[in-house]
Amino acid sequence: MPATGLSDVITVRIPDMIEPLPPLSSQPFESPTFVQRLAYVLLNPFKNLLIPASWLKAFVRTSHSPLIAESFVSPGGWRSMEFLYRKRTPIDWLDRQALLDNPISMAARNRRKIVTGRLVNLIKQHPTDQPLTMLGVGSGPGWHIQTAIKVSGVPTSNVSAYLVDLADDAFEYGIRIANTFGISKSISFLQGDARQIRQTLPGIRVNIAKLVGIVEYLNDEQVIELLKALHDIMVPGGHLITHGLVDKYRTGPFLARVFQLRHYQRDANRITELLSQTGFRVTECEYEPAGIHPIVTAICVEQNAR
Ligand SMILES: C[S@@+](CC[C@H](N)C(=O)[O-])C[C@H]1O[C@@H](n2cnc3c(N)ncnc32)[C@H](O)[C@@H]1O
Repeated sequence: MPATGLSDVITVRIPDMIEPLPPLSSQPFESPTFVQRLAYVLLNPFKNLLIPASWLKAFVRTSHSPLIAESFVSPGGWRSMEFLYRKRTPIDWLDRQALLDNPISMAARNRRKIVTGRLVNLIKQHPTDQPLTMLGVGSGPGWHIQTAIKVSGVPTSNVSAYLVDLADDAFEYGIRIANTFGISKSISFLQGDARQIRQTLPGIRVNIAKLVGIVEYLNDEQVIELLKALHDIMVPGGHLITHGLVDKYRTGPFLARVFQLRHYQRDANRITELLSQTGFRVTECEYEPAGIHPIVTAICVEQNAR
């Protein structure tokens, strides 16, 4: 149903989201085509510098795109991610630009596929007769962890997943996902600041943690604080999956000018350095096919073994 304005978008989209996301196997990896890359090179100077931001905003606001409307309200929030992951047929030209032609959108979908695949492997490697505790940080509705538990097919009686977010507005939706997947006994949603995770999860020791869709909005100091807090609640030898961001096609300035969406850039080396400083050893690091997110798996190292 095409939205006619911001309030319509907000009221129609939640019931619209009941269906599960398309299966990961049905979403191939994406990277910009030659023509798309050429278009970035030719148009970026206008979008990033030459055209006044007020003109760009006025033009973008002519779209009926739910993703664009959401990006004005809560840039980079979990609802925007939801539109990206669903990848519905675009409703107008600007919707197509935002949903399909923007490399950041492609990279977010690639990231979901890679992170979920890695989580599935880690879950399968864990001995099924031992309790498995998982943590999703800045989880939104918790698609990554919930999909991985479901796809792994492991018995869930020993699995506990804590999905923590500063805001609780995705939890009702997340609980519906858990019910649909038949894993609700394993899932707990908790409101809390990840930097004070010990207070949110007293007494919990985490085997697998996922920190996705949040570090790109934090400066180094905040990332270090967050990683240290996670280290404190992880078992030595536990795994953390996270990522960096490189604005490979220089689309960031346009997003900042129009939506105030600002990303901190970190390449594979920088995110590895931050992880090493905070007690993690990187075991796997691979850029997703759009070349924007280096996706990292790291092991939590015992403090005195660093
Ligand atoms: C872009 S969404 C990502 C959702 C999901 N992880 C994904 O990748 O699809 C970022 C989420 O991080 C949450 N968040 C931001 N800062 C946080 C913090 N300090 N502690 C916990 N959650 C936080 C936001 O409320 C938001 O739901």
